[in-house]
Amino acid sequence: MDTKALEKIAQSLVSTGKGILAADESLNSTEGRFKKYNIPHTPENRQAYRDLMFTTPGLEEYIDGVIMFDESIRQTTLDGIPFADYLVSKGIIPGIKVDRGYHDMEGFPGEKITEGLDGLAKRLEEYYTMGARFTKWRAVIAIGEDYPTYTCLQAHAHLLARYALISQLAGMVPVVEPDVMMAGTHPIERCEEVTSRLLEYTFIELFKFRVHLEGILIKTNMILAGKECKDQPGLEVEAEATSRTLRRHIPAAVPGVVFLSGGQGAEISTARLNAIVNKGPFPWEVSFSFLRSLADPAYDIWQGKPENKEKGQQEFLRRAKLIAAARKGEYSEEMERE
Ligand code: 13P
Repeated sequence: MDTKALEKIAQSLVSTGKGILAADESLNSTEGRFKKYNIPHTPENRQAYRDLMFTTPGLEEYIDGVIMFDESIRQTTLDGIPFADYLVSKGIIPGIKVDRGYHDMEGFPGEKITEGLDGLAKRLEEYYTMGARFTKWRAVIAIGEDYPTYTCLQAHAHLLARYALISQLAGMVPVVEPDVMMAGTHPIERCEEVTSRLLEYTFIELFKFRVHLEGILIKTNMILAGKECKDQPGLEVEAEATSRTLRRHIPAAVPGVVFLSGGQGAEISTARLNAIVNKGPFPWEVSFSFLRSLADPAYDIWQGKPENKEKGQQEFLRRAKLIAAARKGEYSEEMERE
């Protein structure tokens, strides 16, 4: 394992003051997204949607890594340049989602488990030759009345660690993503408790599998009350809980923690990121790996129409700039109205 090369990639993804665009939507996700504006769910339209994001002029000022999906890493810009090559030409590191999605965990009603370890090493060899230098695996944990169970959290932690090692052996930095979802009526304390246990088990497994901690990134959820919870505690309490949880459970050897946006909404996730960053300094970089908060406002302008592409790109860049400001703790609500 080339640990020095892994460390360099991980550092490049978090030490620039920029962040990651997690444009790795699976076909299920793009299908759901396209339905909103009745856009036919064709490879050509998915290519046009990705082209809008990736070829946004100036994107490289705010984004230093883009996570793609198996289909997109095989696609080109509308001008015929492979997306991965195009990103590299802009100084952006190409990444690839390598899990094969989540499914019901048999015997554990309400719980989900991620699939995709079979044949992973072989798949990674090909992605490396296509230019990918980092990978992502998402563990999806739902909160319900009587779950997550210990068994489910353990199973996810084990899968994350095995994936991380396989990725490092293939020369690619694993973005280890334990994601406790926001859906539900639970209070913020419950999210903190579940995220804490999940991170604890995940690091135990990462140690067991001898994963090189200086060559990974942790992608995780913010500590928030459930989306349907009536008691939303506000930025200060959320930022304090998030900073406490991460400090307690993420070793200083890890170069960076990047947040997912998790369907929070563009403005609120930007404000929350800003509030968390202002709880620093931290032993690791704190950054973002957003999809929905970055892409949704631009998508709502584009609506699948080529004539709206330029306006969509302007909005995409504006959002990237605001989120990158939050990543430095320099965001304010006034900036939204400028
Ligand atoms: P969101 O920012 O939309 O949550 O997407 C990030 C991601 O990659 C989730 O796996």
